[in-house]
Amino acid sequence: MKWLPNTSLTGIADLDRQDIDQLMAAAGQMAGARAPAMAPLAGRIVATLFYEASTRTRLSFEAAALRLGAHVVSVADATGSSSVAKGESLADTVRIVSAYADAIVLRHPQEGAAQEAARALGDRIPVINGGDGAGEHPTQALTDAYTLHQHFGRLDGLTVTFVGDLRYGRTVHSLAALLGSYALRAVQLVAPEGLDAPGGLAGSLGTAPVIHISSLAEAAATTDVLYMTRIQHERLPAGATPPGPLRVDRAVLDALPASSVILHPLPRKDELPTLVDDDPRAIYFQQAANGVPMRMALLTHAIG
Ligand code: NCD
Repeated sequence: MKWLPNTSLTGIADLDRQDIDQLMAAAGQMAGARAPAMAPLAGRIVATLFYEASTRTRLSFEAAALRLGAHVVSVADATGSSSVAKGESLADTVRIVSAYADAIVLRHPQEGAAQEAARALGDRIPVINGGDGAGEHPTQALTDAYTLHQHFGRLDGLTVTFVGDLRYGRTVHSLAALLGSYALRAVQLVAPEGLDAPGGLAGSLGTAPVIHISSLAEAAATTDVLYMTRIQHERLPAGATPPGPLRVDRAVLDALPASSVILHPLPRKDELPTLVDDDPRAIYFQQAANGVPMRMALLTHAIG
């Protein structure tokens, strides 16, 4: 076990395989649990401090906290509505919030922000990274892994294909790092020009062969998991022309094996048309729903 209770989770490097297995098992137990029958976090306060837009991450963390019997204090738009608008630093803000809450879930546009916040806090209360710019999104990766484990009963041996904005997509960075703890059969990368995965990504994947493929339909034909992502327009350099999306179309669906699944961290744009929603291999709404039990498991570990 690498991740100790009452310490921060800033990236996948804070976890080992045993932690990930235990969190997935705990999420499985949390699924379907309802407060107040079970209130292990009664009397605790979780702060969600979001400097960037969010629907799933913030609300599923808050729902998870409430289901565990904790209370929630929330800043959904820290840049505009907290003292950050008066120029307060991140370090000062989290230090203040640490006097009010037992854990902070932080989302911030700057890469490394969660680590900076954790450093500023010492061991006072844990910070959980809810997304730091183009860096990481470890709790989404855990939700994704849990969804795959639920479906396949294992992570070892899978072929996973990451599609879309692999450069700025933080969910890809975290999920690839997480899967590095398992023995994947292969990882396939399909990215538009200019949005290739950062150099470190292949290294985080352990021994799995990493294959770059330009045709999405070709990659789909040999994968267990098609992990689609949105082009992160907000992170492209100013003035850059965004490439067109790699889209799941009829040809891709025809090529994709019947036993495969399609994931997407959402929100989606043109890369995942709604025609895909009725396909039995589309499990991204289940994936989004799984954010609650996984975040219940995370909060219970962090402050239970
Ligand atoms: C992702 C994110 O914020 O990185 N969304 C999420 O948390 N489910 C993906 C994205 O914004 O494209």
